[in-house]
Amino acid sequence: MITGDDMESKRIAAERAVEYIEDGMIVGLGTGSTAYWAIQKIGERMKEGLDIRAIATSNQSESLAKAIGISLVSFSDIKAVDVTIDGADEVDRQWNVIKGGGGALLREKIVAAASKQLIIIIDERKLVDRLGEFPLPVEIVQFGYEMTMHKLTELGCRPILREKDKKPFMTDNGNYIIDCEFGSIEKPVELHKEINMIPGVVDNGLFIHMADQVIVGFEDGSVKEL
Ligand code: 5RP
Repeated sequence: MITGDDMESKRIAAERAVEYIEDGMIVGLGTGSTAYWAIQKIGERMKEGLDIRAIATSNQSESLAKAIGISLVSFSDIKAVDVTIDGADEVDRQWNVIKGGGGALLREKIVAAASKQLIIIIDERKLVDRLGEFPLPVEIVQFGYEMTMHKLTELGCRPILREKDKKPFMTDNGNYIIDCEFGSIEKPVELHKEINMIPGVVDNGLFIHMADQVIVGFEDGSVKEL
């Protein structure tokens, strides 16, 4: 089960985003320690009478939502998601985003793409002038992963197979994650396309022109909606 960490800045950004949720909405639930606070707040508002249904972006978020009594739907039940609230690892000034630090990037992107509004919630440390200091997560199929990693190297990064308990980390979709150290990403739009053209790649953690709003929590307790 995911937990929130004790960063007040994450919690306040998350709680501000939840103010955008209205009765009757289908809500996308993000993944990670910032999204955790949004899910908790949605649970609180539901106890006060808010009537929504939600779709989760990971097994972790699904378990958390079930534990606090949020009704869940799947894509067989709905045609679109009204609003999705999700965290991020980096956000640049054009609102291009790196996601996938928690390994949920594929479901997060599917839900984001189905959403009328994507609200990204971050603490101030995630705002950057240029993406890429955070290693870019890339979800790949297991077959031929060594070759896929080699192809990623040719795009100018150092690819690292993500591990958990000394074994390859497995996504909810049964795939591997490669964390690609680029240092700095000059052309995120182009890089996104180039990575996804490599056979074996399922998707990468660049979310280009997908965020509709970015809400930032600051250490001094203030919140800014960009
Ligand atoms: C999970 C994600 C998370 O939203 C991202 O890693 C941020 O996590 P946190 O809110 O814990 O800092 O993309 O795949």
